[in-house]
Amino acid sequence: VSRVIPVETFDLVIFGGTGDLARRKILPGLFRRFRSGQTPEGSRIIGAARSEIDSDGYRVMIAEAIAEFGGDEASDSDSLAAFLATLDYVAIDAKGDGGWADLAQKVRSDVVQAFYFSVAPSLFGDLAERLHSHKIATPDSRIVVEKPFGRDLDTARALNAVLSTHFNEDQIYRIDHYLGKETVQNLMAVRFGNVLFEPLWNNHYVDHIQITVAETVSVAGRGSYYDKSGAMRDMVQNHLMQLLCLIAMEPPSRFGADEVRDEKLKVIRALQPVAPHHIVRGQYDAGPDGPSYRNDAENPRSFTESFVALKCHIANWRWAGVPFYLRTGKRMKARSSEITVVFKDLGHTIFEGDTARHRNILSIRLQPNEGMDLQVTIKEPGPGGMRLIDVPLDMTFADALGADAEEVTDAYERLIMDVIRGNQTLFMRGDEVEAAWRWTDPIIQGWEARNDVPKLYDAGSTGPEDAMMLLHRDGRKWREVK
Ligand code: BG6
Repeated sequence: VSRVIPVETFDLVIFGGTGDLARRKILPGLFRRFRSGQTPEGSRIIGAARSEIDSDGYRVMIAEAIAEFGGDEASDSDSLAAFLATLDYVAIDAKGDGGWADLAQKVRSDVVQAFYFSVAPSLFGDLAERLHSHKIATPDSRIVVEKPFGRDLDTARALNAVLSTHFNEDQIYRIDHYLGKETVQNLMAVRFGNVLFEPLWNNHYVDHIQITVAETVSVAGRGSYYDKSGAMRDMVQNHLMQLLCLIAMEPPSRFGADEVRDEKLKVIRALQPVAPHHIVRGQYDAGPDGPSYRNDAENPRSFTESFVALKCHIANWRWAGVPFYLRTGKRMKARSSEITVVFKDLGHTIFEGDTARHRNILSIRLQPNEGMDLQVTIKEPGPGGMRLIDVPLDMTFADALGADAEEVTDAYERLIMDVIRGNQTLFMRGDEVEAAWRWTDPIIQGWEARNDVPKLYDAGSTGPEDAMMLLHRDGRKWREVK
């Protein structure tokens, strides 16, 4: 029985509709939603970009994109043909008037209207303005924007200002695709849907928390963007920050967009500045199976970081004294994203001879093998007497849910459906993004002022040695990246 709840009929205009993101993620995602019956037949997707192609040319381009990036489902040719029939295209000039009258004619005003700005942020203002001057947008239209949302506080503020000249905050959907990941939402379900965890979720019981987003990919092919950005801007300011917020926030009074975002904002505001010796920047060097960052980024003198590890504190009642260790990097040993809550040691053991340290550890895996496991201590089975061992209570969603796990939707698909539904819970609010930059800016400015040189690590490793030391100094260690 399908549990898909159809959304209302919509017109979705994708500016940058011929671009990489549209072809890799947005359109294959929309196809899967269409195929699952979630998007009603009368809905239309209108690609808008500079290329002078016609609608048939666009359909061919998207059919190819779905064949390449759409997975197995792309072979369902009947659905694909029906989906392609919902596509349209307008060649548009973002900085001039070309194409806008045509677009105005195509977009209906009696269905949900969404405009996806899958373009460089420098065009946001032009698009927003023309949607109004050509009387296309209505007070109910939604706009969707992607990261990078600025490169520091000033540029983020400027973008917010440009967008808010033409749209209200409740019309603006800022995507952080990590919020669309299944396990990230599950984090909230686990915390606020069980009696078991929340009473322990504080500095009385939690020793420390680790967030690791390790990637195996390099920056080859996207050096021109990445080299000006680095891991701090590319991953920490947004994705890791969002994970940190969800793990640390107070329970919102209800699962509503502003209630959740208010609580996240409070976490970011309570983050203390990070001392320079609590951050390790790394850059990958050539390893046995690949070239160096500098080679991949095509910048032989680059000091951009492809790895960051840091220790931070949240100055509030719940988390005072509990370190949060964050780490992310490219070209690491394995692709593994995990949030780990390490609970405190027992104060006393009643078992004679048991000298081992037993700890409860909850780990929430974002990828691969989405799921959770909780390390618990039990008696070693058998006749050996009262010997204690630690075992995982494993809940891998694919095992637990069986075939249903296949229904787990990709982050982009879920988020786009939320846009159509008008649900902003999983999108970043303007003040949240600014607060995140306010915390990140001094860190980056410090590096720039000191001409900081990142520590090299071998491609295919777990990062620079100093990142290990960051925890060793505190008598702790990182979870293994495997
Ligand atoms: C993007 C970053 O936002 O997220 C990339 O720009 C990164 O550098 C990607 O690789 C990671 O996303 P995911 O979903 O593959 O973990």
